[in-house]
Amino acid sequence: ASLKSFNTFGIDAKAQSYCDISAIEDLKSVLKEHHKTPLFVLGGGSNMLLTKDIEALVLHINLKGIEIISETEHSVIIKAMAGENWHNFVLWCLEHNFGGIENLSLIPGNIGTAPIQNIGAYGVELKDVFISCEALKIDDQSKRTFLKSDCNFGYRESIFKQDLKGQYIITSVNLELTKNSHILHTDYGVIRNELDANDIKEPSIRDISDAVIAIRQSKLPDPKEIGNSGSFFKNPIISAEEFIELEANFPDVPSYKISDEAIKIPAGWLIEKAGFKGKRFNDYGVHNKQALVLVNYGNASGKEIFELAQLIQKTVKRLFNISIETEVNII
Ligand code: EPU
Repeated sequence: ASLKSFNTFGIDAKAQSYCDISAIEDLKSVLKEHHKTPLFVLGGGSNMLLTKDIEALVLHINLKGIEIISETEHSVIIKAMAGENWHNFVLWCLEHNFGGIENLSLIPGNIGTAPIQNIGAYGVELKDVFISCEALKIDDQSKRTFLKSDCNFGYRESIFKQDLKGQYIITSVNLELTKNSHILHTDYGVIRNELDANDIKEPSIRDISDAVIAIRQSKLPDPKEIGNSGSFFKNPIISAEEFIELEANFPDVPSYKISDEAIKIPAGWLIEKAGFKGKRFNDYGVHNKQALVLVNYGNASGKEIFELAQLIQKTVKRLFNISIETEVNII
């Protein structure tokens, strides 16, 4: 089976075998039956680069459902199943006037994979609304609830990418959202500009979502048209000392202070400065509006894109003495 339509990069890799999972009971029995088979867990396929065929049983997590678990006067706890599309869930919340994830509009992928990399954009991260998630342990099919404190969330990080990598399948996520007196996150300059351009003085959560959608559509390619996985690299964090040296050589370098000791540099800027922005090679390249995004124009192979990523890493290291790590999982 080809996985081309199951990964947003649109890479035509083959799976040895494939199984669509739409019920937790089916997931348990498949895990039990195939306990000796190598498995590959697929969610929205939005954060991976397939560089080869998958010699494993691909489990496509398609568990669906959204339900309100409990509510108070001001807030609501919602349980969403892992296979729900993230952005459709954001839209469902907006329809119900539930606030907290409007800044995370239009992020590709599914509910179940959102905690793995603690998705984030425009000043909000999943961890800000996360209460818990349920997961099945692959080797013995036991169920475990992970509270927020169990997840070790960090910048595009969680325990599911670190100590517990490959051990659990997330089946559902519980989030706490606001019903009224929403807390708006409009501190990002680009959001303010977008609201101002539309003359919106007192934005609703819907206005913020619309602003985020407009910003994302203006610089991030739509995976339905051009294959991509969003940011390919993480923004590197360097020490104050390293920053002084970098700024001396490149006075225009943008930066965000994380602490007195740690400074985050936009990798998109480094890659643009290194001359890669908008560069196209055959059927792949670097997006022309956001250099952090690598793209597949049609029939590129994962290997070609991976080699481009390595060339970018090497060049950035040579020019700026900064190592940039991939955000996307390389398979
Ligand atoms: N920049 C450039 N050239 C570029 C791209 C960026 O110079 O080609 C510089 C500009 O100075 C710009 C700054 O980088 O002001 C920041 O760019 P942007 O606002 O686009 O954000 P980012 O740091 O490149 C991060 C996330 C995005 C998220 C945005 C907004 C990471 C790895 N990426 O990108 O997340 O949407 O902030 O919050 O942290 C994703 O993870 O897939 C993703 C798209």
